[in-house]
Amino acid sequence: MKINIAIDGPSAAGKSTIAKKLCEKLGYVHLDTGAMYRCTALKAIRKGISLTDEPAVCAMLECTDIQLTPDGKVFLDGEDVSHEIREDAVSMAASDVSKLQNVRRDLVRRQQKMAEARGFIMDGRDIGTVVLPDAEVKIYMTASAHARALRRLKQNQETGIDTSDLETIEKEIEARDYQDMHREHSPLVKAEDAVEIDTSDLSIEEVVDRIYQLAVPFLEQEECVK
Ligand code: DC
Repeated sequence: MKINIAIDGPSAAGKSTIAKKLCEKLGYVHLDTGAMYRCTALKAIRKGISLTDEPAVCAMLECTDIQLTPDGKVFLDGEDVSHEIREDAVSMAASDVSKLQNVRRDLVRRQQKMAEARGFIMDGRDIGTVVLPDAEVKIYMTASAHARALRRLKQNQETGIDTSDLETIEKEIEARDYQDMHREHSPLVKAEDAVEIDTSDLSIEEVVDRIYQLAVPFLEQEECVK
């Protein structure tokens, strides 16, 4: 039996990058749960649904198909929205819809179903606390707001998705963190049994290796069971 690994933390802490690398190393599948909140927000914006209208957003979600492919693509009702959901306006809108309790209930249920088969590395804000409380390895990944803004700037320059300057990005990151940490339902908190990793001064390889070392005892158990 494979294990599940939960990675939570504020935006741009490196969760997705690390999860992808670790998946390559372990032959596991990455599930980026933030993409599901982003899809919900994008569709609501397109349809002109208010992001605070919980019944309307939930009704919309009931007839919404969201697919995350193993190669990192995101499909919303069959359309590839992998790039569009990363736009700046969608980031804050995703944080807005993630405040709605019934939206969370719907998406959490989908995420739990996806991870049933095990062998997943899931990243988000409530994975270790709500979605996969039984995950064998739980990580709370952080980095200073400045380090995260610098990374996001570099990412934006590479993808050309957003042209905001460093100061604007840092402010947006701080505002979104505040909202995600202070919402009423499932706010971002470190699970009691999560291991905190501050990635500000660590390379991608160092972070991947730290998590890998935490997973090793469970992987060895897997071998014994076989
Ligand atoms: O990880 P991300 O930046 O793509 O997430 C976008 C927003 O979605 C984030 O600001 C909060 C919300 N989110 C959440 O509430 N719970 C999750 N498990 C993942 C994301």
